[in-house]
Amino acid sequence: MHPEDPRTVWEDVPAGDLQLRIRRPPSAEDLLDEDEFADDERLPYWAEVWPSGRVLCGVLAGMDLTGRTVIELGAGIGTGAMVAAMRGARALSTDWYEAAVEFSRWNARNLGLDMSATVMDWRDPPAQVLAGAPYDLVVGADILYEARNGEALGVLIPALCGPATEVIIADPRRPDARAFVDGMQAAGWGYRREDLPVPGRIDETGAIVHVHRFTPPARKHNEPVVI
Ligand SMILES: C[S@@+](CC[C@H](N)C(=O)[O-])C[C@H]1O[C@@H](n2cnc3c(N)ncnc32)[C@H](O)[C@@H]1O
Repeated sequence: MHPEDPRTVWEDVPAGDLQLRIRRPPSAEDLLDEDEFADDERLPYWAEVWPSGRVLCGVLAGMDLTGRTVIELGAGIGTGAMVAAMRGARALSTDWYEAAVEFSRWNARNLGLDMSATVMDWRDPPAQVLAGAPYDLVVGADILYEARNGEALGVLIPALCGPATEVIIADPRRPDARAFVDGMQAAGWGYRREDLPVPGRIDETGAIVHVHRFTPPARKHNEPVVI
C-alpha cells in the first residue's frame, strides 16, 4: 500500500509536549502475506504505532538531541526517529520492510523533517549503516518480542556502538526480552530500567512499558553479545 492510498488513515501520536500526525495503513492484518510468512515468518507489524513506540517517542521528546546521531531499529513507520529529528538529531529510521521505510520517508517529509530511512534486516545490516557507526544513540521499541530478535540484536547493537553510545529499548514486558537484558548484563554492559505508563490507547500488553537503557562496557563495546 502506498502512503497516499485513500485507504490509509491518519493517527495522532503523542510525544511528551510534541504531537505527530502520521499516515499509516488501516490495519496490519490487511497486509498479511502468506508467502512472506512462509519464507521468513515475517509479519507486517510495522504498520501500526505500538504502545511502547509511543513511550519511546515520549522519552526522546524529553531529550535534547542537537547534533547527535540516532538510529532507530525495527522502526516501523519511524515515529521514534521523527521525534529525534524534531529534537535536533541526525536521525535514521530502519526496518526490514520496504513499505515501512516508504511510509517513514513519506511521513517525515510531510512533517517537514530532515530524516533518513533505509531498509535493514538486523541479521544482514547494509555497509552504509555500519559505516555510520558509532551512533550516539541506538533506539528501538517493541523489538524484543521473539528469541531470534534478541539473538540478532546482540550481534548488531555492539557493531553500531562506540564507548559513549547510549542504547534505549522500550519493551512492553515481552517474555523474550529477559534473555536479551541478561545477556547484555553478563557481557558487562551497564544497565538500568525505568517503568513508564503508556500514553493513550492500551492493548493486551498492558499499561506499563519497560524502558531498558544500556551503556557499553569500557573496552569491549564492539564485541557481539551471545544471547
Ligand atoms: C512490534 S513492531 C514495532 C514497530 C515500532 N518500533 C513501534 O513500536 O511502533 C516490530 C518491528 O520490528 C521490525 N523487525 C522485526 N524483525 C526485524 C529484523 N530482523 N530486521 C529489521 N526489522 C525487524 C518489524 O518489521 C516491525 O516494524
